Amino acid sequence: MSFNYINALLKKPTTRTPIWIMRQAGRYLPEYCTTRKQAGDFLSLCKNPELACEVTMQPIDRFDLDAAILFSDILTIPDAMGLGLYFSQGEGPRFKHPIQNLQDIEKLPNNLNNELGYVFDSVATIKKALNNRLPLIGFSGSPWTLATYMIEGGNSKTFSNAKKMLFNEPKMLHLLLDKLADSVIAYLSQQILSGANSVMIFDTWGGVLSKQNYLDFSLDYMSKIVKGVKAKHSNTPITLFSKNGGKHLNYIADTTCDCVGIDWTLELADAQQQVGNRVAIQGNLDPAILYASPAVIEIEVKKILSQFQGNTGHVFNLGHGIAPDVEPDNVKVLVDSVHNFSKDYR
Ligand code: CP3
Repeated sequence: MSFNYINALLKKPTTRTPIWIMRQAGRYLPEYCTTRKQAGDFLSLCKNPELACEVTMQPIDRFDLDAAILFSDILTIPDAMGLGLYFSQGEGPRFKHPIQNLQDIEKLPNNLNNELGYVFDSVATIKKALNNRLPLIGFSGSPWTLATYMIEGGNSKTFSNAKKMLFNEPKMLHLLLDKLADSVIAYLSQQILSGANSVMIFDTWGGVLSKQNYLDFSLDYMSKIVKGVKAKHSNTPITLFSKNGGKHLNYIADTTCDCVGIDWTLELADAQQQVGNRVAIQGNLDPAILYASPAVIEIEVKKILSQFQGNTGHVFNLGHGIAPDVEPDNVKVLVDSVHNFSKDYR
């Protein structure tokens, strides 16, 4: 099987620039809202492999996307560790038992893959439904990003508790991050064994750290994960995405990952200059451009395509997840523009 998405990650020849969209299965699709209602709530949807498969397939049935992504969430790991994940309406994710001290960290269980069996069942179910039509992306959160939710107990604007631990109790935070990294290695490896063709690590909050703290508390653990996963699955491409991490791309590429994700605050050409030919690049349309008219979307797609030098090594995506109030027809304009125009820029 030869897929443009996988070939782009490995910098092998492609026939056009591949595209997928972060959160491509989500609330902007009316059919997603219907299935979510049927499941009861978001977490029940994640934990039901048949319905998770159904929503994974919805965007790829509607649009000419180049990859499917497992429908799940990054917070499945802390949930499996016993922190009591729930989603309260309008407030995002919450934990009943956030991490507050060393004992909380020491008692976190090590082997989670039994608890996470529903995720691997989803991967296998989706894989079967895809029938080799498209590649499947598996994913996890980065240890630092997972730790922020576990310590804060939910969303945060300041990350004051996580940063307090970082500065006052760095050893304690390192212990938590190391445990998370081991869990992520086992989790991603099992996703690959269940059928994922590539994996991505979402480091949504890496960009809130100073450079040295980013390297020590976020990137080091992603690097451990890249090495751990590659030791067992050397042929599976890995994408690392630190939101707001555009200034660290050089270091991210040093981890021997295959692809770096970038948000829209960095020009694609600058990103390419930083990483050279070492890794592929994923990105980087501002998700808000999907609120604009089709003509504007086409212009913005061309701007991005025109910046990338080369025939392969670019995976088109948004710089962050798609918003719930985007018009699905605009997503079709985006996907088709990338495919149609990419031939003109090679
Ligand atoms: O990309 C995909 O289509 C795959 C599915 C996916 C989801 N979450 C589904 C989801 C992926 C890859 C994620 C990753 C994720 N989850 C991240 C990293 C990427 C990012 O967005 O920064 C983070 C930080 C989370 C944690 C999380 N899950 C938050 C903060 C929220 C609430 C945000 C919101 O939009 O309400 C979620 C819920 C969530 N995860 C939804 C979806 C489709 C919305 C749930 C719903 O149906 O109400």
